[in-house]
Amino acid sequence: MEFQVLLAFSFLLSVFVCYLLLRPHLNRRNHKYLPPSPPLKLPIIGHMHLLGPLLHQSLHNLSTKYGPLFTLNMGSVLCVIASTPHSAKQFLQINELAFIRRIETAAIKRLTYDSSLAFAPYGDYWRFIKKLSMNELLGSRGISNFQHLRSQETQSFMKLLAKKAKTCEVVNVTEELLKLTNNVISKMMLGEAEEAREVVRGVTEIFGEFNVSDFIWLFKKVDFQGFGKRIEDLFFKFDTLVERIICKREEIRKKRNGESRKGEIRDFLDILLDYVEDESSEMKIQRVHVKALIMDFFTAGTDTTAISTEWALVELIKKPIFTPKSSNPKLWKNPLEFRPERFLKNGEGDSIDVRGQHFQLLPFGSGRRMCPGVSLAMQEVPALLGAIIQCFDFKVVDHKTGMILNDVGDIDVDERPGLTAPRVNNLLCVPVERTKCGAT
Ligand code: HEM
Ligand SMILES: *[C@@H]1O[C@H](CO)[C@@H](O)[C@H](O)[C@H]1NC(C)=O
Ligand SMILES: *[C@@H]1O[C@H](CO)[C@@H](O)[C@H](O)[C@H]1NC(C)=O
Ligand SMILES: *[C@@H]1O[C@H](CO)[C@@H](O)[C@H](O)[C@H]1NC(C)=O
Repeated sequence: MEFQVLLAFSFLLSVFVCYLLLRPHLNRRNHKYLPPSPPLKLPIIGHMHLLGPLLHQSLHNLSTKYGPLFTLNMGSVLCVIASTPHSAKQFLQINELAFIRRIETAAIKRLTYDSSLAFAPYGDYWRFIKKLSMNELLGSRGISNFQHLRSQETQSFMKLLAKKAKTCEVVNVTEELLKLTNNVISKMMLGEAEEAREVVRGVTEIFGEFNVSDFIWLFKKVDFQGFGKRIEDLFFKFDTLVERIICKREEIRKKRNGESRKGEIRDFLDILLDYVEDESSEMKIQRVHVKALIMDFFTAGTDTTAISTEWALVELIKKPIFTPKSSNPKLWKNPLEFRPERFLKNGEGDSIDVRGQHFQLLPFGSGRRMCPGVSLAMQEVPALLGAIIQCFDFKVVDHKTGMILNDVGDIDVDERPGLTAPRVNNLLCVPVERTKCGAT
């Protein structure tokens, strides 16, 4: 239970960001019913000058000034920001269908092949893919089928830590966690560990950034941030990767000639390719859809899981010294303080879970568009974290001096822009193995 709070802290704020860009297709007449908006609205850019690169923090700051429900004009896009459990519930549950679409930026359209699960409009395609994904990959069957993959990956991570502990070498924990989560989702989908970390990082980064051209119609054709080139580079990298994977699999399938070997668990790619070949399928699945879904799960499953684990680890190393910064103190006592015991019996968070029913804590969202990977993540993150902290202590390398930090309270908790709220500085540690742990 206590690890849930770890997830919560890193995502409590960022989860709202997913909903900030609600675009309720309001017409002019309805504007008079909109919630209040900050007075400093400029021509063309609207309120965009009030926002910094860490969007969730800017919005939090604005909400302390303008209340739990306020309106912003992001260029020509109208946004309503909801920041209390009550107002979140209004959007995510009571009026869910009116707000169920996600925003589509130029980057999202291109990099998801306009065919992903995560950004698809709510409709038949989304329903079909969602059901398929739950049945084959992310539901309880998929999670238990692939249990051995997760423990394999955890084991090799533990071995690495043990080895580095013996030689007193530095481990790039950020990188190793990303490798691990990348391998887990990759082996689940594709049966092998494909290296997609770099593309994934690039994609979650660019999805979380503002493209002026997306928000200001006047600049629709202008790309003065140079985003277009970055998108095309990422698209090319990913497309090459995924084409290689699919072609390789098609070769194998050709040789196999439709016969599956006995006892073989078909992975997600095989299942999808079966649909591609199936002329009679209720939903016509094409190659582009297969690519989009592979991209989807890589981006949705790698960074999220690794970064949650990293934040949790950082908080555990830092504890008990912590500087409260922001968030809503009316809901939680010292909300940014790392105090997992608040979720234990008789704590203020007793009986609150992360599955979208308690609107004061929504790390995985809520409603129909809630994260379908929640069960997988809630298996993977606590199990991994538990294994790590049971066997190892960590000496943390100071990113400024490159020396071991004397005071763990000094570990920074700075965030970098991006959809997955990553840390600015990578976590570099020298692990110290505890006695009689048996990691090796
Ligand atoms: C700690 C790990 C994770 C966190 C914190 C997280 C968080 C989220 C959040 C906040 C959303 C938006 C929900 C909403 O709009 O209501 C989401 C959507 C999604 N997540 Fe996750 N996620 C995690 C892991 C995963 C994993 C492991 C997968 C799959 C491999 C995954 C797949 C997805 C997909 C496909 C969507 C889009 C769903 C839709 O639009 O219908 N996530 N996630
Ligand atoms: C939010 O407000 C705090 C306190 O006034 C300030 O230190 C911080 O820089 C602000 N953050 C953003 C992103 O505006
Ligand atoms: C640690 O890993 C991250 C992520 O792969 C990488 O960007 C960074 O350069 C690495 N840092 C060091 C010091 O190796
Ligand atoms: C930004 O918008 C321009 C023009 O629509 C487009 O060419 C570019 O690819 C977009 N970049 C991002 C990151 O959305």
